[in-house]
Amino acid sequence: MGPAQIKTKIISNKRFKDNYWHLEFESKSIAGSALPGQFVNIKVSGEAAPLLRRPLSIHKTCGSRVRLFYEVLGMGTRILSTRKPGEFLDVIGPLGNGFDLRSAISDKQQAILVAGGMGVAPLVFLAEKIKLKKPLVLIGAKTKKQVLCLQEFKALGCLVKIATDDGSSGFKGKVTDLLVQLLRPAPSAKRQAIYACGPRPMLKAISKIACEKNIDSQLSLEEHMACGIGACLGCVVPTVSGYKRVCKDGPVFSGRELNW
Ligand SMILES: Cc1cc2nc3c(=O)[nH]c(=O)nc-3n(C[C@H](O)[C@H](O)[C@H](O)COP(=O)(O)OP(=O)(O)OC[C@H]3O[C@@H](n4cnc5c(N)ncnc54)[C@H](O)[C@@H]3O)c2cc1C
Ligand code: FES
Repeated sequence: MGPAQIKTKIISNKRFKDNYWHLEFESKSIAGSALPGQFVNIKVSGEAAPLLRRPLSIHKTCGSRVRLFYEVLGMGTRILSTRKPGEFLDVIGPLGNGFDLRSAISDKQQAILVAGGMGVAPLVFLAEKIKLKKPLVLIGAKTKKQVLCLQEFKALGCLVKIATDDGSSGFKGKVTDLLVQLLRPAPSAKRQAIYACGPRPMLKAISKIACEKNIDSQLSLEEHMACGIGACLGCVVPTVSGYKRVCKDGPVFSGRELNW
């Protein structure tokens, strides 16, 4: 089933901590068809402004409910955080391609999920789908306080390792340096594959590491978007086969494909 534009009622919209919020809405069609890595594009207000919808990853689904996890950054997310349960929300989704799960569920492969900051949002959904494979999850943050979704990943049975810039939790340094330490030298019995979402410099570093070590990587990009449905070319990124639209051809791309 393709994406649909729906008007749905907000079930809950609660501050989780600091600037981080959870929003839940009801949609059988989105919850029933969404793949990890796909996103929804939300009209945050009934007013004319802001004109553009805001893209947010699908964080979890439960029955016909869809849960989002968002950080309040600017006008759009600030307005979203004021929306109340029972109010209508205009949502288009599920959008984008999502992660390719075929390799992630293979017995021959160990999945390593790497999340930087809010990059945890789609990776919790991915971890849920592949939890039987006990993925290794690396969470990167500036400080211990900014480590997100640790309990969610643990509750799914994932092995979780943390990297913080200041060393206040786990490995001291970049999550990509931790990743390098944990990659097995080839050839090893099980191939490793990386699934990542986070800031662009982190994804660029992972793409380089994965290419050097000949490891598959799937990277979810968070580009600024306008239409969100592939029509305006406002979100294109250079790839080895020309410019591609993050909203339609992505947001998930192979590390080998991206032309940083
Ligand atoms: C496919 C996709 C999935 C996303 N999933 C999530 C998610 O699950 N949770 C979440 O909190 N955020 C997510 N984002 C980022 C989110 O869309 C932006 O944070 C949001 O649109 C900001 O809107 P705003 O009006 O609050 O801020 P604005 O006023 O538009 O911007 C505030 C600040 O955020 C930066 N920003 C704006 N848009 C983006 C963007 N698309 N990517 C990175 N930085 C941006 C701006 O440069 C500026 O510094 C996702 C983005 C994409 C493209
Ligand atoms: S946002 Fe319009 S093509 Fe991607």
